Amino acid sequence: MSILPVNLAENSYEIVIERGSLASLGQRCRAVGMKGVAAVISNPTVTAHYGTAVQESLEAAGFAVARIEMPDGEEYKNSASLNRIYDDLGAAGVDRSSFVVALGGGVVGDVAGFAAATWMRGIPFVQVPTTLLAQVDSSVGGKTGIDHPRGKNLIGAFYQPRLVLIDVDTLATLDQRQFRAGLAEVIKYGVIFDHLFFEFMEANRTGILAMEPELLIEIIHRSCILKSRVVESDEKESGLRAILNYGHTFGHAFESLSGYRGLVHGEAVAIGMVLAARVSAAEGMCSQNDVSRIYALISRYGLPVETPLYDRQQLLNSVAADKKSKGDSLTFICNRGIGMYEMTHHTPEELLLLSGLEA
Ligand code: NAD
Ligand code: GLY
Repeated sequence: MSILPVNLAENSYEIVIERGSLASLGQRCRAVGMKGVAAVISNPTVTAHYGTAVQESLEAAGFAVARIEMPDGEEYKNSASLNRIYDDLGAAGVDRSSFVVALGGGVVGDVAGFAAATWMRGIPFVQVPTTLLAQVDSSVGGKTGIDHPRGKNLIGAFYQPRLVLIDVDTLATLDQRQFRAGLAEVIKYGVIFDHLFFEFMEANRTGILAMEPELLIEIIHRSCILKSRVVESDEKESGLRAILNYGHTFGHAFESLSGYRGLVHGEAVAIGMVLAARVSAAEGMCSQNDVSRIYALISRYGLPVETPLYDRQQLLNSVAADKKSKGDSLTFICNRGIGMYEMTHHTPEELLLLSGLEA
């Protein structure tokens, strides 16, 4: 088991990483001061596996439980789902003396977190992430929100949970593709922050892909430490937090060009990291050997590394639409060697050239 503090003054909380920790959810919610009705927001896929265990744990700790479901899928991360959740919170009598439990992957976590941030101007919430991506990334740091027809995550709030409870055993039911997609974010932390973690990923591929619990705990623990440190120094993304977007500039573009159907997020980020490594080499920040190691690691974890076919103008528009862009140039995160990041600014046209997508 590991317990990591996220130090954010009055918004501080702990991340608990443990096998079988769902059973202790109720007690841990009590320990962090939760009371009243526990509104468990999830989806049918996750509820089928873990709804009962979560309900039993909360009831055993004396909470009344209201189970609320949204449909499964990114396409439901929208205002219609949010409004239904508000209806259900109202019907269950959830008020400021109650709390929300977000049980699921990043979609449920983001929507349930935003519901908690906005219902009655904010009620406490607890994250119980059940995908690897949610366990190493989205459940930590307080970004909550929904998509808008104009783009992903356009409506949202920074709203920190009171507790993040990670039960690594929940990954046993996750499909391999989603698991590997989460590994892309894990690899990202190694590339931009920690060359020893990168080497750990190189050395332990077989065990990690076999989901050996001790290795899962190790990679989740190391990822959460790295993410928490960034969030602690820039909670509301006024600057530094943007480094977490390594691989995401091209990643978001390919994700959006595939209509959010062809590639899942982590796969798009995997390709985006290969391109970011190439940009870094072209800028003299890393060697060709570093690019080869990054490419090889991503590929050996079964993630895509080749750029999908694209229309040049559409790709340029899509890269330019990245919401972190300012004026003509946009913030682009590079790797210095392996284990360090560097923030750069480029136009989309320059990025196409530097990444080798355009000769
Ligand atoms: P997801 O939430 O759609 O989950 C993927 C699939 O796995 C879903 O079908 C889900 O029902 C299923 N699932 C979840 N847990 C399971 C389990 N234990 N067993 C079996 N099936 C399970 O996708 P995701 O990759 O977890 O999250 C992607 C979302 O996260 C995107 O909307 C993205 O914008 C968001 N995100 C947010 C942040 C943040 O900081 N808030 C960071 C990164 C990504
Ligand atoms: N996933 C990016 C962030 O949390 O800032």
